[in-house]
Amino acid sequence: MTMDHVFPTYARFPFEPVTATGVTITDDQGKDYLDFTSGIGVCNLGYQNAEIQAAVTDQLGKIWHISNLYENHLQEAVAELLVGKEDKLVFFANSGTEANEAALKLARKATGKTKVLSFNHSFHGRTYGSMSMTGNAHIQEGFAPLVPDISFADYNDPASLDAITPDLAAVILEVIQGEGGVIVGDPDWLRDVQAKCQATDTLFIIDEVQTGIGRTGFKFAYEASA
Ligand SMILES: Cc1ncc(COP(=O)(O)O)c(C=O)c1O
Repeated sequence: MTMDHVFPTYARFPFEPVTATGVTITDDQGKDYLDFTSGIGVCNLGYQNAEIQAAVTDQLGKIWHISNLYENHLQEAVAELLVGKEDKLVFFANSGTEANEAALKLARKATGKTKVLSFNHSFHGRTYGSMSMTGNAHIQEGFAPLVPDISFADYNDPASLDAITPDLAAVILEVIQGEGGVIVGDPDWLRDVQAKCQATDTLFIIDEVQTGIGRTGFKFAYEASA
């Protein structure tokens, strides 16, 4: 088929999945595929999971949209599942890039500082702040000027610790770089980054968009190095 009315921002595979169950998707010709991509990293609960189907169907029958202007016991219940008894707060966003935008804004507001250190080959999203923190020239090409005061160092490189200085608002990284080629963070290096952040009063933002919610066997992948 042709897609003449949609921006060609993606090079699409020439088939159309129309239904899916578990880990199998089926295209419009009836051909089955084993889905290893699962929503490119973020939807890791499979297709037509019975519990999710039931919960969504039940909610659709009650109220299917409401603004953040009102109390919402469901948001509170999910937030509690995420943080448990820890002294943490949850900010719900619609996408990974929006979560990182929020993290960047929070870091600047909370510290009063502006500089952020990110890493080469990272990916944090395609909106301006997140794209500016993405260490991939190809993603940023054509969109300058980017958000200022963001610099890059080499991932897993002990020399990068020298770039973590008290004038930084935050350091942002993925504990496993996903889009950059599945590069696993060295646990010792990750702990050194955390220690240097603490020593320099720098916030440490961990982007778990691709590794969180059980993807690596932990609720969040950073727990393996904590
Ligand atoms: C590590 C990481 N951060 C952020 C994003 C952006 O997420 P979204 O596409 O939901 O905006 C991605 C998407 O692949 C990602 O892998």
